[in-house]
Amino acid sequence: MASSTTLSPAITPSQLCSGKNGMNPPSYIALPKCVKNGISGVGKDKRMKVRCMASIPADDRVPDMGKRELMNLLLLGAISLPSAGMLLPYTYFFVPPGSGGGSGGTVAKDALGNDVIAAEWLKTHGPGDRTLTQGLKGDPTYLVVENDKTLATYGINAVCTHLGCVVPWNKAENKFMCPCHGSQYNNQGKVIRGPAPLSLALAHADLDDGKVLFVPWVETDFRTGEDPWWS
Ligand code: FES
Repeated sequence: MASSTTLSPAITPSQLCSGKNGMNPPSYIALPKCVKNGISGVGKDKRMKVRCMASIPADDRVPDMGKRELMNLLLLGAISLPSAGMLLPYTYFFVPPGSGGGSGGTVAKDALGNDVIAAEWLKTHGPGDRTLTQGLKGDPTYLVVENDKTLATYGINAVCTHLGCVVPWNKAENKFMCPCHGSQYNNQGKVIRGPAPLSLALAHADLDDGKVLFVPWVETDFRTGEDPWWS
């Protein structure tokens, strides 16, 4: 059976919320004995301290705007920092490696994955040499050594414009010859025999602190005088 308690009828709400000298001290009321079976911990002569909320000024019941803004900032910081810590690894995961560089270029890599140092490269690669390196977006790209033993200012993308085979350099024939369907390109990568419909793509081969840096070629194709089909 439910038990209930009641306030002493001798004490009115106004009495609860007022005290001597108008200071509104905590009021004390006598709790009556439980009607039946009693409530644990509340018995005869027990007194309970009651704080009269109505006596607290409204401005003191909630934090002022400054405190709330500070709490909001602290909450925002507590959420943002762990979130940023989790998002950064995901961001780095989806950024292709080697796509950096102040001018949007990619440092050429040799067969071992090392950066190509121009001076070192020319020690072991003679005039007329065309050797594959790793270029823009990881595409196989020929680094060209001119007859005066300098590096050409362009690299030649080795991906055949027919169906995408990697086209080898044939030194004896002085041209690139695709083994897949017989397309041929001259020593600058210009198509001279189909079925390939287009010349091999170009990239600028610049020097950056001694390293070879491939940069996208967006200007006119010097071999055909036409706009580059690959950009
Ligand atoms: S892929 Fe090169 S000729 Fe077909």
